[in-house]
Amino acid sequence: MEHIYFDNSATTRVDPRVAEAMMPYFDKWYGNASSLHSFGREASEALDEARERTANAIGSKSQEIVFTSGGTESDNLAIQGVAFANRDAGDHIITSAFEHHAVLNTCRFLETQGFRVTYLPVTSVGMVDPELVKEAITKRTILVSIMTANNEIGTVQNVREIGGISHDNGLLFHTDAVQGIGKLPLEVNKDNIDLLALSAHKFHGPKGVGALFVRKGTNLRPLVYGGGQERGLRSSTENIPGIVGLGKAIELSKLELEENVARMTSVRDRIIDGTLVGVTGCRLNGHRVRRLCNNANFRFDYIDGEALVLNLDVKGFATSTGSACSARSTEASHVLKAIGIESEHARGSLRITLSKMNSMAEAEAYLETIKEVVTRLRSISPVAMLSKQEGGA
Ligand SMILES: Cc1ncc(COP(=O)(O)O)c(C=O)c1O
Repeated sequence: MEHIYFDNSATTRVDPRVAEAMMPYFDKWYGNASSLHSFGREASEALDEARERTANAIGSKSQEIVFTSGGTESDNLAIQGVAFANRDAGDHIITSAFEHHAVLNTCRFLETQGFRVTYLPVTSVGMVDPELVKEAITKRTILVSIMTANNEIGTVQNVREIGGISHDNGLLFHTDAVQGIGKLPLEVNKDNIDLLALSAHKFHGPKGVGALFVRKGTNLRPLVYGGGQERGLRSSTENIPGIVGLGKAIELSKLELEENVARMTSVRDRIIDGTLVGVTGCRLNGHRVRRLCNNANFRFDYIDGEALVLNLDVKGFATSTGSACSARSTEASHVLKAIGIESEHARGSLRITLSKMNSMAEAEAYLETIKEVVTRLRSISPVAMLSKQEGGA
């Protein structure tokens, strides 16, 4: 059976060109970048090159890039780093209620350390209202953290405007751009961003490596102390193969952005329109327009999302009910709750996330299958049967 991978917001396949670029740093130039000999120098040069590629992709300077172990660490370093380094200036942070747990749980931890956090609500399609950011600012605010694009429903925020509001009020602006790289044209200067978190495995790079853009002059306290690598902001021997992979992957994602976005958008639109037209009792979660080019997220009446995912898997389609981190939790997704979807409907959700490697033929194959799977699951759903007897759908 052919397997079709539609779970690219959870993680992506490594691009073969990325794997090829990484290989020499496993078995040929495996030195420590701090060593003086040729092995060390090769590693150090590869590190510099990857830093430059990463900086070029987001319009920053290479000295403003800190390599980390992934998106979670980058978010933690940004938020905890700013909070603990700027405690004298204030103790208040503004974020939204539907951030990734890497941001939400960091903010919750900071609340236990005496910080105050405002969790802004989002609209029914998942937008943060920039006016609410303005209203939430107090004399004690030090940081605004709003994600670039949501990992479950794909809503793209107005980052430039929110960053502008933050700067007008003398505040630092952090954005979790983990889902945005390779899908949106991000430029840290134009977009008013001071701290930007990214993660290689979301754009066809390897897992376990990420980066944080830290605008020059930003006061940040490290999370990890040690040998002083990464300008003292992230000690530990650098993961050279991983960092090389990140650099190659982000360079490719920038070079091929336009063509990849166009491809993903057309496949996504076929999936969205085909599902909404072809399957009864189905609605789209999130914004129809301000939406990542690779995201479709639906809710189906009278269907359990897990049953849907498992049945689609049997038919060869890898999808998810929500974010990978919460997919094994029985709790309804905090993102769907934040946009006002009742728990029972949130449980009937299906997330399809594409990459540049998906095709229109795969979309057509899915559309043939989804209708059949939904019809069969409803035929054995007691809630659907009860509703039918009562005259419902
Ligand atoms: C929006 C967002 N932020 C942060 C993360 C965490 O990234 P990582 O898995 O690299 O720690 C993810 C991963 O799913 C994500 O989607």
